[in-house]
Amino acid sequence: MTVGTNRRVLLAARPQGAPRESDFQCVAAEMRPPDDGEFLLRNRYISLDAGFRQWMNEGAGDGYLEAMQLGEPVMGLVLGQVEQSKHPDYAVGDWLMCRSRWEEWSLADGSDYMSKLEVDPELSPSCYLGVLGPTGLTGYFGLRDIGKVQPGETVLISTAAGAVGSVAAQIAKLRGGRVVGMTSTDEKCRWLVDSVGVDAAINYRAEGGLEAGLVEQCPDGVDVFFDNVGGATLDTVMAHLRERARVVLSGALSTYNSSEPVPGPYNMFKLITQRALMQGFMVTDYVEEYPAALAEMAAWLKSGELRNLEDVVVGIENTGPAFCRMFQGGNRGKLVVRLEESA
Ligand SMILES: NC(=O)c1ccc[n+]([C@@H]2O[C@H](COP(=O)([O-])OP(=O)(O)OC[C@H]3O[C@@H](n4cnc5c(N)ncnc54)[C@H](OP(=O)(O)O)[C@@H]3O)[C@@H](O)[C@H]2O)c1
Repeated sequence: MTVGTNRRVLLAARPQGAPRESDFQCVAAEMRPPDDGEFLLRNRYISLDAGFRQWMNEGAGDGYLEAMQLGEPVMGLVLGQVEQSKHPDYAVGDWLMCRSRWEEWSLADGSDYMSKLEVDPELSPSCYLGVLGPTGLTGYFGLRDIGKVQPGETVLISTAAGAVGSVAAQIAKLRGGRVVGMTSTDEKCRWLVDSVGVDAAINYRAEGGLEAGLVEQCPDGVDVFFDNVGGATLDTVMAHLRERARVVLSGALSTYNSSEPVPGPYNMFKLITQRALMQGFMVTDYVEEYPAALAEMAAWLKSGELRNLEDVVVGIENTGPAFCRMFQGGNRGKLVVRLEESA
């Protein structure tokens, strides 16, 4: 017996370099109803996260996720609602955030990573993938525990117009920092100033590149660097660290499309002469602190101190193209796919 058609997106080819639309294939399959101990989720939103690109590579598995399988649905974070249940712990209508598949419907038994959400009726459910999800929490904890922003300090954020970066930039402002955001076009620089609220923006592709931008916008150096990019970007910024600077290693986007080890950074000696700290972290280190952090962030959202900056794409068939667009810098804020018009 089937309960309808489920459209899903398969990993048709392992991306070579930046992902291309032909790496993904949207197909339709029949869905069976849940067996005892299972439930059926109607997926409402798919979160597109740049970090998931790494697990599209052959043999890329680590403690967080196994390498995705060719010909199988692409893995990602998904927000869904229970539609049918034969599982005692999951009731019809429950909202769940799951590490799941790019698909319209999911059969589950609760063994995959998933957490129940109390969706605040005053907020869009998609907030829980973005500003009130792992994305926003990455900015929150990285700045709180490693960045430790003090009022008046210069805080530099890479991919500031992206999902993690745009929340980190707003929180750095709330903590009293003078915030400088980096991005790839003049138009995105304007968006950073007007919509994210940074004090200054650097177009790292403009003449003179990042180096010239840092000289102009951070003339006294950088106190806190929240880095989502790594590689040459990190190297360039390290030469501009102030004494006692903190470098928050959030991500290494510049390396995700590379199948070979990426060298560098070379400016490590700057950490010594500037007595600087550089530390990585995973947002999942903080699971037990999520409720308190989310309460604070939800209050900021409702008071208007924090904005939910989303780039919403509609329809499962647009998931692969949207993911590719992110690697061309095409998104503003958190990229999410909405799976039905009425959600
Ligand atoms: N540590 C953690 O627990 C944690 C959790 C979640 C995410 N992260 C990290 O946060 C970072 C941002 O992820 P996101 O999902 O929020 O993506 P995002 O910033 O919304 O989108 C990616 C942005 O990165 C820039 N970009 C794309 N390809 C690039 C490349 N090859 N080199 C340099 N920049 C590139 C583009 O912005 P521009 O046009 O501005 O260049 C693009 O808009 C990732 O490194 C991710 O791994 C870390």
